[in-house]
Amino acid sequence: MASQDPRTLAVLASGRGSNFEALARAAQSGALPGRIRVLLCDRADAPALQRAGALGIEALCPPTGVRRTRLDDETPWIEALQARGVGTVLLAGFMRRLHAPFLDAFANRILNVHPSLLPAFPGLDAIGQSWRAGVKITGVTVHMVTAALDEGPILAQEAVVVRDDDTAEALEARVHAVEHRLYPAAVRQFLDAPWHLEGRRMVFDAGAPRV
Ligand code: GAR
Repeated sequence: MASQDPRTLAVLASGRGSNFEALARAAQSGALPGRIRVLLCDRADAPALQRAGALGIEALCPPTGVRRTRLDDETPWIEALQARGVGTVLLAGFMRRLHAPFLDAFANRILNVHPSLLPAFPGLDAIGQSWRAGVKITGVTVHMVTAALDEGPILAQEAVVVRDDDTAEALEARVHAVEHRLYPAAVRQFLDAPWHLEGRRMVFDAGAPRV
């Protein structure tokens, strides 16, 4: 096993990969103090794989097994990351829950972006959930991943106002635009600034600029 460096990053994605690309571009421009070493996908047809090719980032599809909402065996996923010295794992539209072996291998070092102001609208289709619920404010959350779905300590949130003349598509586009900015900024803060947990509260130590 290669030694794990917190700044050696991996992204896990299932689909389009726009957040993966935003993270990769931030890393390549120096805006994010780390290197995306590998992309892992659970779907061989994920457009994220093409983005990785264009960005010159290694991409792999380890076996998933037959279950749809989790990996049957997380071991090949963990081993692929450990063999590359990955110390921080970034979920970006990865649509499976992770469990003890994976969470233990990267304890407190797995982050996720979610397209709502958690704890509102956890789970699938959060933007559609918020649209149908008629909320006036929604947003984006970056949080640490724990065994509980979308409940880990929150690193950063940003609000997106729902306009009276909005469409679901226009709202979705604005939420994604915030994700593409907030996620790299929150990862940068996570890698750069000391932090500690007070229960579920993630607190960046004095002097850390707020994302
Ligand atoms: C993003 O909106 C991300 O927040 C969401 O999936 C989308 C992936 O888009 N993730 C979740 O809902 C996780 N619960 P992308 O593939 O273009 O980055």
